[in-house]
Order: sequence, then structure tokens, then C-alpha cells
Amino acid sequence: MGKNDMKQALLVVMLVGSPAWADHELLDRDNAAGQTLYQQHCAACHGADLEGQPNWRVPNDDGTLPAPPHDESGHTWHHDNLLLFEYTKLGGQGALAARGIDDFESGMPAFETVITDDEIWDILGYIRSTWPMRVQELQASRNPPH
Ligand code: HEC
Repeated sequence: MGKNDMKQALLVVMLVGSPAWADHELLDRDNAAGQTLYQQHCAACHGADLEGQPNWRVPNDDGTLPAPPHDESGHTWHHDNLLLFEYTKLGGQGALAARGIDDFESGMPAFETVITDDEIWDILGYIRSTWPMRVQELQASRNPPH
């Protein structure tokens, strides 16, 4: 292959490959393991069928929000991979503090000392796998190339 062909080939790989790269953390996850972990660690609040807590848009008396659904009716798919990961690992308060928001009290606990990073990605992979393909693609498109 000549130098120019090589360049051309590389460019094609980059163009075709970049949407997948932008979303690489959630590709090829162990969704079955994720589902089991979800039932163990998340279902109590987010619901066995990812339906969230009743009236999840209405704040609790203490000002915190109930657990939102993780199905397509919630706003999980509005967020990029990193935010979902950090929200789970650091908890709601930790994830927002990392983004400069210090005065938000969140009912979402940190799982940093409970499950591994890989297990968090498997759970997120499982959650995403339950959405219609159109919603999965929308969520994937929120990830800047990285
Ligand atoms: C003790 C109850 C509880 C448990 C257990 C729990 N969550 Fe949450 N989670 C919440 C609450 C409450 C919120 C909304 C918090 C907020 O507004 O900051 C939330 C929010 C989230 C969000 C942000 C969603 C969005 O659209 O903003 C993610 C992601 C999340 N949880 C993932 C998980 C995962 C994954 C697990 C299991 C490993 C889990 N949660 C377990 C209570 C819980």
C-alpha cells in the first residue's frame, strides 16, 4: 500500500470508528452480570423493572428527590457515560461536587467501596441494553469523542 492509500484507509477507519470509540465503555459489557448486580444493589430504590420510585418527580419532605426510573421514561439516557459512572461511583453529591455544585443534597449513595468500576460499567451496560435502539443511539451520541 502506498503512503496515500494508507492515509486514506486510516481516515476511513477514523470516520467509521469514531462514534463507537466515543461510547467505548458501554460496548461489550457483561449485561447478564450487570442485571444480577442491578437487582442486588440498585433495584431496592430504582425498581426491579427499572421503574423508579412512585412520584419520582416530586421532592421528598427533606428536599431530596426520589430515585428516578432507569427505563426510557426517566432521564438516565440524557446523560453521558462518565456522568452515569460517577453518579454511581461517587454518589449524587460526590458527582455534582466534582462539577462544582456543592449545595445539592442527593439520595443517591456512593458505591465506590461496595462494587468495582467494572461492575458499575456492567450495570450501566445492562441498563442501557433495556432501552429501544433509538434511545441507546441518542444516549451514545451524548458522549464526546474520548
Ligand atoms: C438508597 C436508594 C438508592 C440506591 C440503592 C441506588 N440509587 Fe441511584 N439514585 C437514588 C436517588 C434518590 C437518585 C436521585 C438523586 C438525585 O437527584 O441526585 C438516584 C440517581 C441515580 C442516577 C442519576 C440518574 C439521573 O437520571 O439523574 C444514577 C445513574 C443512579 N442513581 C444509578 C444507580 C445505580 C447504578 C445503582 C446501583 C448500583 C443505584 N443507583 C442505587 C437512590 C438510590
